[in-house]
Amino acid sequence: MAVRNFLDLSDAGGDALAAMLADALDRKAARIGQPKGAPDRDAPLAGRVLGMVFEKNSTRTRVSFEMAMRQLGGSALILDSGTTQLGRGESVADTARVLGRMVDAIMVRTDDHEKIEQMAKYAGVPVINGLTDRSHPCQIVADLLTVIESGKPLPGLEVAWLGDGNNVLHSILEAAGLMKFNVRVGTPQGYEPEAEFVEMARAGGAHVTLTNDPVAAVAGADIVVTDTWVSMGQPHAEEKLAAMAPFQANAALMARAAGDARFLHCLPAHVGDEVSEEVFEGPQSMVFDEAENRLHAQKSVLLWCFGLL
Ligand code: CP
Ligand code: NVA
Repeated sequence: MAVRNFLDLSDAGGDALAAMLADALDRKAARIGQPKGAPDRDAPLAGRVLGMVFEKNSTRTRVSFEMAMRQLGGSALILDSGTTQLGRGESVADTARVLGRMVDAIMVRTDDHEKIEQMAKYAGVPVINGLTDRSHPCQIVADLLTVIESGKPLPGLEVAWLGDGNNVLHSILEAAGLMKFNVRVGTPQGYEPEAEFVEMARAGGAHVTLTNDPVAAVAGADIVVTDTWVSMGQPHAEEKLAAMAPFQANAALMARAAGDARFLHCLPAHVGDEVSEEVFEGPQSMVFDEAENRLHAQKSVLLWCFGLL
C-alpha cells in the first residue's frame, strides 16, 4: 500500500472522510464512561509511535493527537522545533528521513505548506498536516463531526463563514466539495480565500457565494463559523482589525441565521473581537464539543493513515 499522507482533505477523498466520521462516532460512543487515558478495547495502534513536530504553538492539536495515540494503544512524542536541530537549520528533508526511520507516522504544524510536502516526500511514513498557513484539515474533520452530532446532515447544509479568508476556511471549502455542502463566505474586501479552494469546492458540486456583506453571508445559514482575525505568524494590523469589525459573530448576525443555527470556532478565540461573549457562551455555541471532537476526529485520521479505515 502506498504511504497515506493527510496533507489536505482531498488526500483522503469523500468516501474515506465519511468512513472517518462514522468511525469517530462509533469509537466516541464505545468509550463513554472510560477513563480518558484507557485504551480502546481493540487498541489498533498498539506498538505504533507518532512523532509530532511543532513550529507553532498548539493546545488542542497537541493534546488531541497525544491522547488519540494513547487511546488507540500507541504513543506519541513531541518535537518542539526550538529544541531540535530543525530549529538550528537542519533541512526538512534530512529531518524527515531521520524521523521516518524512528517513528511510524509524523504530524507537523508549520508555516509554509511546502515544508510539509517536503516532509511527506522524504519521510517514507504517513505525514499529517496539523496546520499550515494554507490549510487545517484535521480541524475540519472535528467540525464535520460536530455538525453531524447536532443532527444536521452534511449534504445541502448551508455554512456561513465570517471574517478572514484563512487556512481554516480553505479546509472548509475543500470539505464542501467532498461532502456536498454549501458555503457563504463573508469577508471584508481583500481578505477573500484563495481562489483555488473556491474552485475546488465548486468543482465538487458545492455552491459557494463570496460576499463582503456579513448579513448576506449568514442569512438563513445552518452553521455560522468564524476564526481569529489574526492567525499565527500574521502581523496585528489595525487596518485589518477595523475592516473585520462588521463581521463579528454577534447576536444581531446570529438572529439572521436559521432559528436552530449553531456556532463553531476552532479556538483559540478572541472573545469581543471575532465573536461576542453572548454568542460564544450562548446556547447556539458548540465550540467545546468541537474542541473535544478534535480527539475523536484525530483517531480516525490516524487509523486512515495506517490503512485501518
Ligand atoms: N484549533 C486548534 O488547532 O487549536 P490549537 O492551535 O490549540 O492546536
Ligand atoms: N487560523 C488560525 C487557526 C488556529 C488554530 C491560525 O492559523 O492561527
